[in-house]
Amino acid sequence: MAKKVDIKSEPNLADAAKRKREETRILTDDLEIPSELRIIASGKKFFIRTYGCQANVLDSQNIEGILLEIGYSPVDNPLQADVVILNTCAIRENAEEKVFGEIGSLKRLKGENKDALICICGCMVQQPHIVNTIKTKYPQVDIIFGTHNIHHLPSLLNEAYSKKNRIIEVYSKEGEVIENIPCFRRDKIKAFVNIMYGCDKFCTYCIVPYTRGKQRSREMDAILKECQDLVKQGYQEITLVGQNVNAYGKDLKDAPTFATLLSKVAETGIPRLRFTTSHPWDFTEEMFEAIAKYPNIMPFLHLPLQSGSNDVLRRMGRRYTAEEYCHLVDRLRAIVPSISLSTDIIVGFPNETEEDFQRTLDVVKYCHYDSAFTFIYSPRVGTPGAKMEDKVSMETKHERFSRLIATLEPDFEAKAEAYVGKIVPVLVEGSSKKDETILSGYTDTNKLVNFKGNVSSIGKIVNVKILESHTYSLIGEEVNE
Ligand code: SAH
Ligand code: SF4
Ligand code: F3S
Repeated sequence: MAKKVDIKSEPNLADAAKRKREETRILTDDLEIPSELRIIASGKKFFIRTYGCQANVLDSQNIEGILLEIGYSPVDNPLQADVVILNTCAIRENAEEKVFGEIGSLKRLKGENKDALICICGCMVQQPHIVNTIKTKYPQVDIIFGTHNIHHLPSLLNEAYSKKNRIIEVYSKEGEVIENIPCFRRDKIKAFVNIMYGCDKFCTYCIVPYTRGKQRSREMDAILKECQDLVKQGYQEITLVGQNVNAYGKDLKDAPTFATLLSKVAETGIPRLRFTTSHPWDFTEEMFEAIAKYPNIMPFLHLPLQSGSNDVLRRMGRRYTAEEYCHLVDRLRAIVPSISLSTDIIVGFPNETEEDFQRTLDVVKYCHYDSAFTFIYSPRVGTPGAKMEDKVSMETKHERFSRLIATLEPDFEAKAEAYVGKIVPVLVEGSSKKDETILSGYTDTNKLVNFKGNVSSIGKIVNVKILESHTYSLIGEEVNE
């Protein structure tokens, strides 16, 4: 017999779009774990699959921290788990298709272990049409919980065990900052640290402001304490994470600017400091100064362009022009000549003309990017973009996409080639499964290097001589000098 569905709260896009402009509320209550759940969880295993961006990686670290605290232990194979969590991404349609494929294949798990719980969380389930699809077409899913409901996971699990219902709890609200949720980091070398949640920019193509709520900054002291702890634990790299890191603090009373926060984190002595994502709109003079002043702020910047056409940028709601963007890049290169630049570009925004697309190619040629993430526009239900008329065929979009890649790649190759013969510092992350003397890591400019070296170098920053370059990676050998 089909299980009863207990709907505690369902998502609503109109509520998700509201912004009251109140100051951010910071909650510091400790996590509540029902004692009977600890008994049930003993000996049980969990598996988490994470899709999407750093925001989801961080949420999964909280989910893992919560599950470990309850008493579950991790397992590498979802089919051996008693609790499977898929932390999903809604940014483009293909991201969502992958998740539906995975939910389908998890049906097998229920065949082998009928008491196993399948839980879907993350950005996808903040959308009403997705929750309806899961509710009606995927009866194997037991718990659906939203991005604002993570700290309720213990009570949701407890209820799923005791009442044997399917449960939906997805809030659509502006959200708070919830401190004191356990966090477990598998990576002991590099760490992401949230400095803010949500987004208030409402770019017309983007679902994130609806799935993640209003921009909420964490207090600087809490961020600094977390970074200091990471330094003490021996971490080599911190990346400060937020959808618009340079708008940090604008929602808090008397909060410092992002440049101040960045400087204070640099002063913790973390060997490598990065931040993502910067919106060109909020870039300040103070930020240039901080980037120039601290040698541990890495010479790498991800600066999404999205389009090089001023008309498309205006229709996207990006609030900068191609000229302003290029000027920003000029300023950055004047201050940090070695800076490596990466970007995000969307092809095929509704009614993008050939002329608009040419402007994107112009900016690409001007900026000489080191790397880029390129996407074909994907309409997202509930965003203004989805309502725009679009006469451009999918065939034209694909053809433009290929031309964009063909314009970007020669720069990637030239930038990589310039490393050949140089000795560069590399933070070593691991070794190849087949041959442990083949190590891999990243340069300060965020280039992937595969190189011959000593396995004892993992977790350290070592000098590597670059011998060969490819479009997306470098090959080298460790040098001891
Ligand atoms: N906050 C970041 C981006 C987060 S999403 C910023 O503002 O830069 C990551 C990237 O996905 C975006 O930069 C954009 O290039 C792409 N993206 C977002 N929505 C999209 C959509 N509907 N279709 C295609 N690409 C999209
Ligand atoms: Fe999306 Fe724009 Fe916010 Fe980035 S700034 S998350 S692209 S709405
Ligand atoms: Fe995806 Fe949500 Fe991040 S939509 S890109 S996981 S904020």
